[in-house]
Amino acid sequence: MAESNALAQSLPSGAETRRIPDPCAIVIFGASGDLAERKLIPALYYLWRANLLPEAFCVVGCGKTHFTNEAFREKMKNGVKKYLSVQPEDYDSLDAFLRKLHYLSGDYATEGAYTDLKSLLEQLDREGGAGGNRLFYLATPPSFFPVAVQHLGNSGLAEQPEEGTRYSRIVIEKPFGRDLTSARELNQIVTRVFKEEQVFRIDHYLGKETVQNLLVFRFGNGIFEPFWNRRYIDHVQIAVAEELGMEGRGGYYEEAGLVRDMIQNHVLSLLSLIAMEAPAIFEATAVRDEKAKVMRAIRPIPLERLSEFAVRGQYVDGWENNERLPAYRAEPKVSPSSTTETFAALKVFVDNWRWADVPFYLRSGKRLPKRISEITIHFRRAPHLLFKGTGTTSIEPNRLSIHIQPNEGMSLVFNAKIPGSTMQIRPVTMNFRYEESFGQSPPSTAYETLLLDSMVGDSMLFTRADFVDLAWELLTPVLNRWREDGRKGLSFYEPGTWGPSESDAFIERDGRQWQEL
Ligand code: BG6
Repeated sequence: MAESNALAQSLPSGAETRRIPDPCAIVIFGASGDLAERKLIPALYYLWRANLLPEAFCVVGCGKTHFTNEAFREKMKNGVKKYLSVQPEDYDSLDAFLRKLHYLSGDYATEGAYTDLKSLLEQLDREGGAGGNRLFYLATPPSFFPVAVQHLGNSGLAEQPEEGTRYSRIVIEKPFGRDLTSARELNQIVTRVFKEEQVFRIDHYLGKETVQNLLVFRFGNGIFEPFWNRRYIDHVQIAVAEELGMEGRGGYYEEAGLVRDMIQNHVLSLLSLIAMEAPAIFEATAVRDEKAKVMRAIRPIPLERLSEFAVRGQYVDGWENNERLPAYRAEPKVSPSSTTETFAALKVFVDNWRWADVPFYLRSGKRLPKRISEITIHFRRAPHLLFKGTGTTSIEPNRLSIHIQPNEGMSLVFNAKIPGSTMQIRPVTMNFRYEESFGQSPPSTAYETLLLDSMVGDSMLFTRADFVDLAWELLTPVLNRWREDGRKGLSFYEPGTWGPSESDAFIERDGRQWQEL
């Protein structure tokens, strides 16, 4: 596996950091859907505009919906313009990019569609020289994953020669399975057809600059590691909040729920990066080994005391800017008596020498007051209150906030003396902002980095099978219990609040509070 320079990739203007992938064809299954238009194609265009894609590359959109090449290009053009800032001076490069897009409609549950796909890819190879390299991207509903994988195997499209002269890779969107059993089954199907090094299980949070920077922050600096442990850290909070509701995804969400949609993947990935040990080298296997070790060390959640470790909620109807927002149960394709959670808070412990007895509080939800993802490290209080005689009765513990999005950056809260003749103390903040330091905000979708990584074969930022397995091993018992409990234990909250009141009570029972976001 080639050593990664994924982190350096954040600077596309630096010639020495560029990785131009070999020619290739990217085949997107589910190309008429939301993901292709909102994220994948805009991200590919971002790379194209930054001269990070080879001239000989093409995209083949696959789906049941019928589109001509022109109609597909038009739809994708709208997506690029809507989700990426495109200036008039970019129009030529956008047109050149769009000419690389093709569409092949068909019933991809049948063998014939793959025969057609194979011929089209061979034709494109001949015309444009994609070099026989193929990157298959599964952007479909999860139920289709096994079908596509098996057909790719049967049609020979998954094959790649031993000597590595050309590649065939598969990128699989989350959720990978819906519980431990189904994830293992899916993994068996996938690994019967593809070798692990051909498989890229994507978690787009890992492509976010701020998330990649966690490793640099922790292991590229000498001063933080010494206090990154139970001696100095009281607890850690990871919050991923969203203002949006279902946005037409009610059908998917009914099957998933908050924990499967956000915690099993994004939030646990963040946790593993915060808690992992330094890998021996900066290379995919070493980094993924350390992440898996964190997952292995997480204490199983005790079901007999579940309410001490987990809270779940669902949003009711409410108002926002004079607009009536529907309750989750009134969203399209959602059952009026649904017990699917749209909010969850969990407490987990990483049982190892570094983190013994340090709680990690995880919180995520839809229809919360704002879109914000933040990790906060709450340090222990100063051991002795030196300033008692001065009227200061307590001082705030230090806090490090990692702003994953928006306002990407970090801030450290520490105490300072208020200028004046008396000894008064109050917390102040030291800030680092990407925009200020680097003159630009990170790319918008996080897919840019990951698509490029999958094209160059760098799997460091992708989820390995053992991580997926361990994440499901932790969460499946909780999800099963919630399913059995149905309405019992499900709390409700109004849109624009930070979840049900039970969530506050949950952390306050431990003598702590949710970090204000
Ligand atoms: C996706 C979830 O993985 O992440 C969505 O399926 C969620 O429900 C999205 O809205 C959030 O991603 P981001 O990058 O906007 O924080």
